[in-house]
Amino acid sequence: FSSSDVTVVFVLGGPGSGKGTQSAHLVKDYGFTHLSAGDLLRAEQNRPGSQYGDLIRSYIRDGKIVPMEITVALLSNAMADALAHRSSQPSGASKPRFLIDGFPRKLDQAVFFEDTVCKSEFTLFLNCPEDVMEKRLLKRGETSGRDDDNAESIRKRFRVFVETSMPVVDAFRKQGKVVSVEATGEVDEVYAHIKEAIAVKDI
Ligand code: ADP
Ligand code: C5P
Ligand code: MG
Repeated sequence: FSSSDVTVVFVLGGPGSGKGTQSAHLVKDYGFTHLSAGDLLRAEQNRPGSQYGDLIRSYIRDGKIVPMEITVALLSNAMADALAHRSSQPSGASKPRFLIDGFPRKLDQAVFFEDTVCKSEFTLFLNCPEDVMEKRLLKRGETSGRDDDNAESIRKRFRVFVETSMPVVDAFRKQGKVVSVEATGEVDEVYAHIKEAIAVKDI
């Protein structure tokens, strides 16, 4: 894809910072196509006949980053699918916009995606302290059915986030491509901050 044909915005933040929740709001107001890397990996994990199911399951439980070839292939396939089905949609006239949540989680993913798929417009970063995220995730774990919403996996995910994923945010920040928002408040409050912060962006 060429960045002159599609707009890609990344949504990053620690586990439980609200990426999925806020992405849903942005889809409603801005007409983005939302792709969650974690959701795509979970779907592939459960797809009958997938050769990666067991691998993905074990990486996710340990909070580790799945080898990027798998994740990037799932994302670019999902983008191609969305574009293929777009002509029949009412929004068909404007430039397609993708909101990619939970990706890139590691520097190699960021470089590989931007070199081989598409450059990102900017990254929305949801800044949230670990104690708040932990509370949200434990609560989500009561109903999510996710293997990784338990205290032990959460601890591992926080560590991977600090050591492996924050360097991606820092790298984009050096390029002047990060919009940072405090994500501790109520959902609507955080969303109001996001709208304000991205108002300056041409999307
Ligand atoms: P992420 O995709 O970043 O892991 P989610 O959007 O799934 O995070 O949110 C994690 C959990 O916290 C969900 O159960 C969600 O309903 C809840 N949540 C999200 N944002 C807030 C918020 N601002 N205040 C309280 N709970 C929230
Ligand atoms: O974003 P989400 O919390 O749904 O991601 C769940 C898990 O999926 C991560 O902890 C990680 O194991 C895996 N993942 C990944 N690479 C990504 C996104 C998610 O390996 N880019
Ligand atoms: Mg999520």
